[in-house]
Amino acid sequence: MTVMSIKKMGDPLLARQAKRVDLHSEQLIADVSNMIDTMRYYQGVGLAAPQIGLSKRIIIVEVDHNIRYPRASRIELNVLINPQIINFSAQKQSDWEGCLSLPELRGKVTRSCHITYRAKTLDGDTIVNSVNGFYARIIQHEIDHLDGVLYPQRMDDCSAFGYEDSLPAY
Ligand code: NI
Repeated sequence: MTVMSIKKMGDPLLARQAKRVDLHSEQLIADVSNMIDTMRYYQGVGLAAPQIGLSKRIIIVEVDHNIRYPRASRIELNVLINPQIINFSAQKQSDWEGCLSLPELRGKVTRSCHITYRAKTLDGDTIVNSVNGFYARIIQHEIDHLDGVLYPQRMDDCSAFGYEDSLPAY
């Protein structure tokens, strides 16, 4: 198992546009495997490659008995290469988010309730999938990482931002 250290907000790599991935790259399987080990170790529900120092368009998502999000329903492991959101619902919802690159903080972010995304799988297949709720939120959050955007940049009300153990509303 390889647990990588997580880049924190302020690191220039997190503010960069990540590069598209060549599916034939020999490094791809190792990169994804390191991402999975790291996400599980730190109890993330998603992880983007730049968070472990790789400027590559790879995200992973998984929810399974997560102590950081105890109320979230299960999402099986998804590995998405070069993902792109092709439709955002006009209907939006505000909810709390956290990020392993901003430890112990939470903030309320408004995002589309439903999205449709397209991505490549590790096998090289193209998938198109529509998701909603928390799942849609995670995908939007992780793809933002690939474009150098962290969730505080999406917040419209900074009063709903603070430490998990101090926010009465959270
Ligand atoms: Ni994040």
